[in-house]
Amino acid sequence: MDKIRIRGGRALNGTIAVGGAKNAALPLMAASILIDGTLTLTNLPHLADIQTLGTLLEQLGVHVSVDGRVARLTASRIVSTTAPYDLVRKMRASVLVLGPLVARERRARVSLPGGCAIGARPIDLHLKGLQAMGAEIELSEGYVEARAPEGLRGAEIIFPFVSVGATENLLMAASLARGETVLKNAAREPEVQDLANCLVAMGAQIEGIGTDRLVVRGVDRLAPATHSILPDRIETGTYAMAAAITGGDIELTGTRLDLLDAAVVSLRGAGVSIEPTARGIRVQRTNAPLVGVDVMTEPYPGFPTDLQAQMMSLLTTAEGASMVTETIFENRFMHVPELRRMGANINLHGASAMVRGVRRLTGAPVMATDLRASVSLVIAGLAAEGETVVNRVYHLDRGYERVEAKLAACGADIERLKEAA
Ligand code: UD1
Repeated sequence: MDKIRIRGGRALNGTIAVGGAKNAALPLMAASILIDGTLTLTNLPHLADIQTLGTLLEQLGVHVSVDGRVARLTASRIVSTTAPYDLVRKMRASVLVLGPLVARERRARVSLPGGCAIGARPIDLHLKGLQAMGAEIELSEGYVEARAPEGLRGAEIIFPFVSVGATENLLMAASLARGETVLKNAAREPEVQDLANCLVAMGAQIEGIGTDRLVVRGVDRLAPATHSILPDRIETGTYAMAAAITGGDIELTGTRLDLLDAAVVSLRGAGVSIEPTARGIRVQRTNAPLVGVDVMTEPYPGFPTDLQAQMMSLLTTAEGASMVTETIFENRFMHVPELRRMGANINLHGASAMVRGVRRLTGAPVMATDLRASVSLVIAGLAAEGETVVNRVYHLDRGYERVEAKLAACGADIERLKEAA
């Protein structure tokens, strides 16, 4: 298993190109199931999760061809409606094939994802939504079996709380259902909007994009389309925080400030300068010290849970105290004990972490159990005195493309240590 070694203490200076959003690309790829033709996606990020979904789609009969940043997905004929345990276990987002499969093939068999490092993460909202649309759902041998012999029909679905994945699954299903579907308390994340915009380009009739009330009038068929995947706001925020903790000055190209929303407010509150440029965003913290801020994760447009660990790393060296509260996932503090091993002063109280800034972190061997937690340790390592070795780099590769190369190009002393499997 590869490791990443960082010798900390160098300010980041330079330019980093931000890629297409992983969390937009995954539902967009799943949407290819909806058409008997080619969906062309541009600005494709090269990530392990994208490959995993590509493998699953190919098993279902979708022809997937990737040429640089362009993916062409052609689902002329669906040959299987089963998403097997081995792939769903690797990546929960595999459940995004459920809605499109039931909409097109009137049936699907998808392994239940089970628990994951950051919490139980059930898919009950996805299933209840499909049931409301007329699907019969059975659970057997660890699989969800969904059948809609008469096809799906429109329904009013009120989510008891916001779910990105359930909104996306049902949006795709509703696009080909008979009649009107209303999704209330729908997720408004930019990635959900990106999917909705792509579905519209494919001929879907969707109103309310960007709001928490989506109205979908089902159509008989959707058509081929070309769509550019939106920039990755989590990658953007991650590098912004990396630059800020090192007292650096970087430009992030191919991305947009408006995607970051609440994270910009928190970063500015912590003493970081972050401004739009013609090509993206400039992030600077060359003179001012970092100061503590309170952060609470919330559905969009609130502070994203996928930036919580990185923000916490940043705050470990801020003056004063910061309270970081996680409201989306019940167990998303696995980075805390690792950050403590690097000298951070953090106390956990239920869903909140009290971070008291220390003058300096110190390098240590660390390991993380999920994607965002592992990158938060890279961020901490960039600022720490001495050497940090981050183990289990495969988590990073799921969501960050060439992370060490991008950081090294800005002056970080970072390298990947290859190890034979
Ligand atoms: C997506 C993102 C993930 C991000 C999360 C929250 C993708 C591929 N992943 O995950 O990176 O951290 O949004 O912004 O886009 N829940 C239920 N029942 C359900 C569905 C969800 O209880 O049927 C709970 C989850 O356990 C969690 C909360 O709802 O506590 C939000 O989850 P959700 O928004 O669905 O996250 P994902 O779509 O899985």
